[in-house]
Amino acid sequence: MRNFKYLNNTVISTKKRIISHFRPVVTKRENIHCTSILFHGEYEWKDPKNENEIVNVTFIDKKDNRFHIKGKIGDNLLYLAHRYNIEMEGACEASLACTTCHCYVDFESLGKLPAAEEKEEDLLDMAPFLKENSRLGCQIILTKELDGMEISLPLATRNFYVDGHKPKPH
Ligand code: FES
Repeated sequence: MRNFKYLNNTVISTKKRIISHFRPVVTKRENIHCTSILFHGEYEWKDPKNENEIVNVTFIDKKDNRFHIKGKIGDNLLYLAHRYNIEMEGACEASLACTTCHCYVDFESLGKLPAAEEKEEDLLDMAPFLKENSRLGCQIILTKELDGMEISLPLATRNFYVDGHKPKPH
């Protein structure tokens, strides 16, 4: 990996440079340990360190099967689903360019989520089987308040991004 040398002769690796560049963005996201979007799901493969970190999430697939999962604070819902082989596709890998992570959030939890940004709203408008409680899973970051959240998957999703691209769990 390439290293960078600053004027004060400090040498820093490319990876550290990228991380420090993004740090203000990361901490701005509600001061949670949110590294998921930058590291594409690596964080979601780590188990909760203790009970306080656990956020219980139930996924309900299109055949009505229920999967109870112990997520943790800071997990990105899309990457958490990937870890446990839930059928939430996520073709654009959280870059807000598809709707394949479309899901329905139970109304109580929906009220605890930050409002969708305009880009998410625009994409959702094009999603098949849109409902009042539709959201994009890749934009949901778990917080303790979301403990007990139920996520249902739509009958089908549409990919506006790259036809046929299916991300593999990391
Ligand atoms: S994964 Fe493409 S918008 Fe969420």
